[in-house]
Amino acid sequence: MPTYRFSAPARLVVLGSGSGTNLQALLDAASEEEYAARVVAVGADRPGIEGLARAERAGIDTFVERVRDHPDRSAWDAALAEQVARHEPDLVISAGFMKLFGPRFLDRFAGRTLNTHPALSPSFPGMQGPQDALDYGVKVTGATLFVVDGGVDTGPIVAQVPVAVEPDDDAAALHERIKTAERAMLVDTVGRMAREGFSVEGRSVRIGS
Ligand code: GAR
Repeated sequence: MPTYRFSAPARLVVLGSGSGTNLQALLDAASEEEYAARVVAVGADRPGIEGLARAERAGIDTFVERVRDHPDRSAWDAALAEQVARHEPDLVISAGFMKLFGPRFLDRFAGRTLNTHPALSPSFPGMQGPQDALDYGVKVTGATLFVVDGGVDTGPIVAQVPVAVEPDDDAAALHERIKTAERAMLVDTVGRMAREGFSVEGRSVRIGS
């Protein structure tokens, strides 16, 4: 059973593709002495995003690895892994990173790469969790933090938080409420994982011993 324990503070590399509000929540938490993790670098698959600006304002190292700068997806995947490895992370956090990791990345960081998804897995995997939940007509959706595997939002679940769907919700309004709950879950759960360690056995993730 893979077990992870970290010397405090744990080193986080956060990857994103957009506004980076989950990243900001981690940056804010990690600025508190008692939080057991620090963001040591922020990476993106495109330049010019607010997530990178948030990192720069916080004085955190950033990097960009664009798919189009590589001959194929596998070369991009290896380059991304190399960039992340330079920062010697204990945990890699995919927070709104809109790319799937390939085998070359997962060979290095599987088991300690987490992703946050705006739906209650296993429902509504993919890029449009809030819209798919609305289209299906569920009354409760939410967010899921999971350990990344080779599938699309399929990895072992670390934490989930429910969010009620309101009658007049559109996808944007629902996603904003999900993100509020998601950020709190992410900060709390990553903090506990950093402090207490965690183990993964099959689909079961346990924080602490
Ligand atoms: C978050 O809700 C995250 O779960 C979602 O993108 C948002 C990023 O927000 N990710 C996915 O949909 C991946 N399948 P942020 O950039 O403000 O943190």
